[in-house]
Amino acid sequence: MRKSNLVYTFFISVLLALGFLRCQKSKGGILVDNTVYIPLPKKVISPKDNPTTPEKVALGKLLFYDPILSGNKDVACATCHHPEFGYAELIDLSIGVNGVGLSSKRRFKTDNDIPFVKRNSQSILNAAFNGIEISGAYHPEKAPMFWDLRAQSLEEQALLPIKTFEEMRGHDFSEAIILDTIVKRLQNIPEYVGHFEKVFETSEAITSTNLAKAIAAFERSLVSNNSRFDQYMAGDSTALSLSEKTGFQLFKKAKCTNCHSGPMFSDYKIHVLGVPENEKLGYVDDGFEKNFGFRTPSLRNLSSTAPYMHNGTFKDLEDVLQFYKDLSSGLSKNDQVDKAKLDPLLKEVDIKVMDMKPIISFFNSLNDDSFDKTIPKEVPSKLPVGGDI
Ligand code: HEC
Ligand code: HEC
Repeated sequence: MRKSNLVYTFFISVLLALGFLRCQKSKGGILVDNTVYIPLPKKVISPKDNPTTPEKVALGKLLFYDPILSGNKDVACATCHHPEFGYAELIDLSIGVNGVGLSSKRRFKTDNDIPFVKRNSQSILNAAFNGIEISGAYHPEKAPMFWDLRAQSLEEQALLPIKTFEEMRGHDFSEAIILDTIVKRLQNIPEYVGHFEKVFETSEAITSTNLAKAIAAFERSLVSNNSRFDQYMAGDSTALSLSEKTGFQLFKKAKCTNCHSGPMFSDYKIHVLGVPENEKLGYVDDGFEKNFGFRTPSLRNLSSTAPYMHNGTFKDLEDVLQFYKDLSSGLSKNDQVDKAKLDPLLKEVDIKVMDMKPIISFFNSLNDDSFDKTIPKEVPSKLPVGGDI
């Protein structure tokens, strides 16, 4: 009796263990990965002093598309962050003031003395989650922004392009007066006055602080958190193809995860990779604290962030992967950056030519097209929506 009880217990334990393993397997065999990767959260949190309301998002959207925010009234935020291109653009270095056209077709008008914007435009999709940790925790009031982390929070970021000469300000206004100029312009448009007063529930609601708050609230509505990868991580093992699953494993094996970790595939830290300079810029971009470090970018929606890196110097993902392959031999690809300065986390990176195709197909599973692509029919200034595009 006792013996058969033991055998019985043993038998049941084996069955349970098998069932447990099967259960993990049905989640795509991702048990181990859960420490490094989880899906993006379903909900977005806002800073305490800037709660999101539908009216604020609607106002922020109008402002985002309205070139009234630029010195010459010809550049809007949407000029370089356009929904047709995943809220980024397909051009290596952005063109702001005195430009015409959209994305890869954008160029300077003849008779130009305005320089290129220093860097490649980032996508605003999911910027609401910037700084998100492996655990899924994030802090919107101090979210890291830009390739060199020079702003914290969407609110702080929003006013900087308006103040920057080659992005939106232009020749006619100094940095010291541009924000007051824009605020006065908005105060003279009754439709904006009405919107701001309703959203911020006070009179004289049009201030640069509230302008930034409304734009930031709109940006927090631009999420794409339902990629096939997110579905896979949430338990749907059929959401990824075999080659995408293989690519994910190879991505981890190659130690790309040393920096591209967490739900956004970024540690939001600065690393020195020695990406070659973009000759078009005409001067050397030495990045964070003049040390040639740049922030790890997200790997989500790579289909809309080409060309790649802080200066758009690599035209496609094959070029990026070839760059990492070259780096793994320990050589610097930028003659300004001594190889001793390269990030030590690169030493473990080991990528083979035959791994590249599956890794790129894995990247495809991180694209998610289900974000708000609607564009206002008109903006309160009655200027062309999105600027001179
Ligand atoms: C002329 C093109 C251009 C215009 C206009 C422009 N941006 Fe950008 N944006 C860029 C570039 C280039 C970067 C990256 C700059 C850097 O990191 O140094 C960027 C970065 C950002 C980021 C940081 C994203 C991240 O993940 O760190 C946000 C947010 C953003 N822009 C929002 C805006 C808003 C809001 C406006 C309008 C007020 C605006 N941009 C106008 C080109 C532009
Ligand atoms: C040491 C940290 C680190 C490691 C390891 C690393 N990356 Fe990166 N990655 C970065 C940084 C930093 C950038 C931006 C560099 C720049 O622009 O100067 C970047 C940029 C990229 C980009 C361009 C994204 C865009 O939108 O421009 C891709 C794609 C990429 N990495 C893929 C990979 C792959 C694949 C691996 C593994 C073979 C890998 N990374 C390993 C830190 C890292």
